[in-house]
Amino acid sequence: MEITKIYQPDQVDEAAKEIQLGELIAFPTETVYGLGADATNEKAVLRVFQAKGRPADNPLNVTVANVEMVKRFVGDINEWGQTLINKFWPGPLTLIFKTLPNALSPVVTGGLPTAAFRMPDNQVTLKMIEKAQTPIVGPSANSSGKPSPTTAEHVFHDMEGKIAGIVDDGPTSVGMESTIIDLSGDVPVIIRPGAISTKQIEAVLKMKVKHKQAASNQKYRHYNPDATVKMVNHNDWQIAIDWAIKQPFKVGIMAETAVLNQFKPQLSTFDLGSGVQDASQNFFAGIRKLDNEEHVNLILVQTFAEDGLGEAYMNRLRKASNNQLWSLE
Ligand code: TXA
Ligand code: MG
Repeated sequence: MEITKIYQPDQVDEAAKEIQLGELIAFPTETVYGLGADATNEKAVLRVFQAKGRPADNPLNVTVANVEMVKRFVGDINEWGQTLINKFWPGPLTLIFKTLPNALSPVVTGGLPTAAFRMPDNQVTLKMIEKAQTPIVGPSANSSGKPSPTTAEHVFHDMEGKIAGIVDDGPTSVGMESTIIDLSGDVPVIIRPGAISTKQIEAVLKMKVKHKQAASNQKYRHYNPDATVKMVNHNDWQIAIDWAIKQPFKVGIMAETAVLNQFKPQLSTFDLGSGVQDASQNFFAGIRKLDNEEHVNLILVQTFAEDGLGEAYMNRLRKASNNQLWSLE
C-alpha cells in the first residue's frame, strides 16, 4: 500500500515529477477523471492495468497536450483527423489512428496497429503533461467494470493505496467519457458515443459516419454496480414508484428534479438536475451514491431521448442496466 496524495491545481508540478518517475497520477478532464502514467514507460503502464484490474488486451488511450505528441506516434495526421482536431480539440473527442511501426509499446495498444489519442479540455492536466514532457496513458480512473469517476473522491474510493496521487480540480463538467471515433479505416466509425454527437461530427466531416455494433462493444463489463439498474420510461414513473414502495428491498430512484417534485417518492433518491446535460454530468455520481447506500438492491433511472447528448447518456444507461426496462411484469 502506498499513500495516495491529493494535489491541488497549483501543485501540478509535483504531480508531473511523479509521472516522470514512473508513478501513477489520476488527473482531471472535462469528461471523467483519468489514470495517468508515462505512456513511454512500459513498467508504469503495466501498473495502470494492475491498479484498475483491467484486462491486459483492452488498449489504453494516449493523452496529449499538443498535436506534436500525436505525430510522434502516427506521423502525418490524415485529413479527417486534422479537421476534427481543428474543430474539437481540446475537447471530449478521442481519435484512433494507425501508428508508426514500433512507435508505441504493445502494452499500451494491446498489440493493435492503431492507437487512441485524446487532448482533454482541462488546463491543469494539459500543464501537467507539458511539464512531464511526455504523453500519458489515460483510461478512466475507476476500478475496471465500475462507474467512471467524476470527482477526486470517486477516484480515491477506487484507487486509494494503489496510486501515488490524484490532482483534484473539482467535479468534471461533461460527466461522460469522450466520443471515440476510429479514423484508421475506409470510413470513420464511432465506437463510443460522447458529448460530441454523431450529427456534429458528420457536419464537420461533411459525410456519413458508421457506428460500431453494440454487441461487439460488450466484450468488457461496464458501469456495473452491485445493485440492479433498470430504465424507467417517463410515463411509467407513477406506477413504478407505487410498486417500488411496496417491495421488501430498498429501491433507489434517479430522476430529474421535476420528476422527484411531482411524485415525491418516499425512497432513496438522487436528483439528476434538469435536462439531459445535467443528467449526463450527474449520472455516474448518482449510480455510485445509490449503490453505496445500504440495502439498495435496485436503482430505477430516468431515460432520455436518444439524440445529441442523449446518445451518450442512453449508451451508458443501457450498459449499466444491461438494457433492462422496468415494467410491471
Ligand atoms: O473521456 C475519456 O475518454 C476518458 C478520460 C479520462 O480521458 N478516458 C476513457 O478511457 O474513457 P477508457 O480507457 O476508460 O476508455 C477508452 C476506450 C476503451 O474502451 C478502449 O478499449 C478503447 O478506448 N480503445 C483504446 N485504444 C483503442 C484502439 N486502438 N482501438 C479501439 N479502441 C481503443
Ligand atoms: Mg473506462
